[in-house]
Amino acid sequence: MCQECGTASAKWQGRCLGCNKWNTIVEDIVLPAEKGIENSTLSNILENNNVPCLLSTIETCDKKRIKCADKELNRVLGGGIVYGSIVLVGGDPGIGKSTLMLQMAMSLSDLRVLYISGEESARQVKLRAIRIQNKPDNSPEAMNSILSNPSISDKKTDTKKESQPNDNFYILTETNLDKIFNHSKKIKPDIIIIDSIQTLYSSSLDSIAGSISQVKNSASLLMYYAKKTNIPIFLIGHITKEGTLAGPKVLEHIVDTVLQFEGEPRLSYRILRTTKNRFGSTSELGIYEMHSNGLRQVENPSELLLSEHSNNVSGIAIGVFIEGTRPLVVEVQALVGNAAYGNPQRSTTGFDYKRLNMLLAVLEKRLNCRLLSKDVFLNITGGIKIDDPSLDLAVCVAILSSYLEIDIPHTVCFCGEVGLSGEIRPVARIDSRISEAEKLGFQCFYMPKYNIKSLNLKKYNISLKSYEYLGNIFSDLKCKTIAE
Ligand code: TYD
Ligand code: MG
Repeated sequence: MCQECGTASAKWQGRCLGCNKWNTIVEDIVLPAEKGIENSTLSNILENNNVPCLLSTIETCDKKRIKCADKELNRVLGGGIVYGSIVLVGGDPGIGKSTLMLQMAMSLSDLRVLYISGEESARQVKLRAIRIQNKPDNSPEAMNSILSNPSISDKKTDTKKESQPNDNFYILTETNLDKIFNHSKKIKPDIIIIDSIQTLYSSSLDSIAGSISQVKNSASLLMYYAKKTNIPIFLIGHITKEGTLAGPKVLEHIVDTVLQFEGEPRLSYRILRTTKNRFGSTSELGIYEMHSNGLRQVENPSELLLSEHSNNVSGIAIGVFIEGTRPLVVEVQALVGNAAYGNPQRSTTGFDYKRLNMLLAVLEKRLNCRLLSKDVFLNITGGIKIDDPSLDLAVCVAILSSYLEIDIPHTVCFCGEVGLSGEIRPVARIDSRISEAEKLGFQCFYMPKYNIKSLNLKKYNISLKSYEYLGNIFSDLKCKTIAE
């Protein structure tokens, strides 16, 4: 069976016929489906026979969702943890998946948590828990405790109190699925966390832990278990070299929600995004910062995405984009220089390369900018990847600013999609974007002409400038009349 895509083949081959990858086929002994279903664990789980029933007669759970202390996680999950849901958390090794889950588990102190660790010993988990619970001296909690108890000795007893373990937190180092179900029956947890799905195995299958059939089997057994008992289950999953979740796509089909935890290993920012969610919007985004004592939520990400510099530099424009439900302000940096070689270079970080080429072609054709002989480098600060087209305008302005050597004031914010004829196209939810820019203290907001019709202009304290064509902004730039 191919370890990448799950395609089955009757004999070993060097190359998988399904995904064309080399050396991915491994022998896997698969039991017939009926035998798998009739094994003791599953029949235990699926005791009752379901019959068709009327939608109106189905009772919903009166408790809707579990809210965790972590607001970012709540938002990414679509407003909290849904009972009986199964959530897959994927990410590169060392990115902080275990830390995130442990922190969540510890914050749910009134719930009974079962943390199943197949990778770390109970002692290691405990050490990490102690590390996370020691709040840094500059965190709001610590500051509050210092403020309320001025003497240092008081502060010390405070931190000791905080680092006491949660009484409802159980750790189990076990990788056998049948044993896990037995323990879970005894403990009756409110929430289960499994670190990681690749370490689990079920004795009903012959193949080794981490193989495709074991991962699939464990995930589907856990899914039945979650649906039957209404316990939410979090699975931590590994990621392959290519950045997709290890195990076949099947795993993503089985679970309700897929969260990707990503970030540059060298930077301390971590981004949690949803790629699938049965109970909320995908493309939600949570931003964290990794500290020596765990992950901390970033309260105002827009401030983080803007770099700080006092004097104006050309090639920088600020744009607003929307991730999920939340508007964010980001800085776009462009550098346009003479090409040293015949083929000018184009390079982007955090922005779609093809989209940049398209925008360059628009600037070339519609505004007569001679960019053909120029190298263009584009960078979105903060290490974030953006595919919202409303950032087009900021990208074009940054490029023009660098090309014309004119700097854009820091108090101006741009928002709009750029079309092939150089027109500035309307964007969705302009209202929340303007509010975000206003909140961050911007004084001028450049936006599509079409959008301004639907706005109540008296509501805003920010000056709004609407444009129909990129050319108008270009001539304003040339006369340096931007945001005067
Ligand atoms: P971890 O949660 O073990 O990653 P994963 O489970 O995704 O493999 O996180 C490990 C990394 O996080 C490691 O490089 C150290 C760093 N870290 C901190 O910087 N501060 C902390 O408080 C913790 C617990 C981890
Ligand atoms: Mg881990």
